[in-house]
Amino acid sequence: MLKGKHIILGISGGIAAYKSVYLLRLLIKAGAEVQVVITPSGKEFITPVTLSALSGKPVVSEFFSANTGEWHSHVDLGLWVDAMVIAPATASSIAKMAHGVADNMLITTYLSAKAPVFIAPAMDLDMMAHPSTQHNIELLRSYGNHIIEPGTGELASHLVGKGRMEEPEQIVKVLSDFFSVKKSLRGKKVVITAGPTYEKIDPVRFIGNYSSGKMGYAIAEEAFRRGADVTIVSGPVSVKVSSPDIKVINVESAKEMEAATVAEFAAADIAIMSAAVADYAPSECARSKIKREKDEIPIITLVKNPDIAAELGKKKRTGQLLVGFALETDNVEFNAKDKLARKNLDMIVLNSLQDKGAGFGTDTNKITIFTSDNDRYDFSLKSKPEVAADILDTLINKYLHIDEA
Ligand code: PMT
Repeated sequence: MLKGKHIILGISGGIAAYKSVYLLRLLIKAGAEVQVVITPSGKEFITPVTLSALSGKPVVSEFFSANTGEWHSHVDLGLWVDAMVIAPATASSIAKMAHGVADNMLITTYLSAKAPVFIAPAMDLDMMAHPSTQHNIELLRSYGNHIIEPGTGELASHLVGKGRMEEPEQIVKVLSDFFSVKKSLRGKKVVITAGPTYEKIDPVRFIGNYSSGKMGYAIAEEAFRRGADVTIVSGPVSVKVSSPDIKVINVESAKEMEAATVAEFAAADIAIMSAAVADYAPSECARSKIKREKDEIPIITLVKNPDIAAELGKKKRTGQLLVGFALETDNVEFNAKDKLARKNLDMIVLNSLQDKGAGFGTDTNKITIFTSDNDRYDFSLKSKPEVAADILDTLINKYLHIDEA
């Protein structure tokens, strides 16, 4: 999977840098073209001579060559790269990446990279567990980076805990899986609903919910990366897509979402309903702002909104796939399976507010997938981009059986 891929191996200054030599060897062996970018302190742990001998390329560390004055363009590297892996990523480099402190070539390259970035933290257990580091890692995750979690074991300090850089073989596997074309969606049109809907009460107020759109947009990004033609029908969110080739139809109310989704579904192969659609809307929107000064308390009459997923379930043709979500607080499994059947879905993704880190607004989610033929798949707490990959892998393995390898 890595044959011919352009990989930047970023090395920062930690004792685990010795493992990066082996990682570089494995990447080269797998057929990748590797450019090493190392921080000044990285060079204290491992010499550029070893790295350039193994990669067959001069190692990049400074902004320009001291001998010739030649400028090393991080912008060109950012365009050349198919994937960047930073291993080891120290607490300091993680903090700089999270906050855009571009004071060395590794960080400027990271900031310029137009490709997925994989970060393998390595540090002592206390540094790893510190809220600052955890916060910075979460920030990096929320920017769509892939965190390769460190393992637990004996550390350079001889203390035992979490902070060991993941083993090179495993890092190569993560990259290979990422580039695996077996689970491609090339030639498929995918429609994804995302975010909340706003149902107007008056010109300044609405009924809404806490959906941030992160889950739906992560699915859209993952489907796009796998070659699909992707359309998001999006409620009001602040998340943005990474490419102008992902079509976004912005809507506000459930009715608007219904119209756009039904229209897009006609030519779609797959629809994934991750939006948190308001089930009810005010029967009418007051023409002017409802005033507090009035004596009587206003009564807002609600009417049922269309159930978009159920509507698509009725319209679904042979060959079209329909995936719903279930956001539950209790009787979680029963309710999810009930929605699966009632809405004529092929798969339902259950996320429960009983699980810490799952559901609205978080950068993580914990899901269980149920299928219409009674299969069940459980997953651990992961970042939303990783959850998106699990959802699409499950869908493809189960229903599409694409094998382009
Ligand atoms: O956006 P985030 O902050 O990242 O949060 C993600 C999420 C929690 C919103 C997402 O993971 C999720 O669970 N989305 C579905 C939320 C929801 O409304 O669930 P539900 O159980 O009420 O609805 C069941 C299914 O029917 C969903 O696929 C929903 O999109 C769909 N539906 C519901 C009501 C309606 N009127 N029309 C619909 O299409």
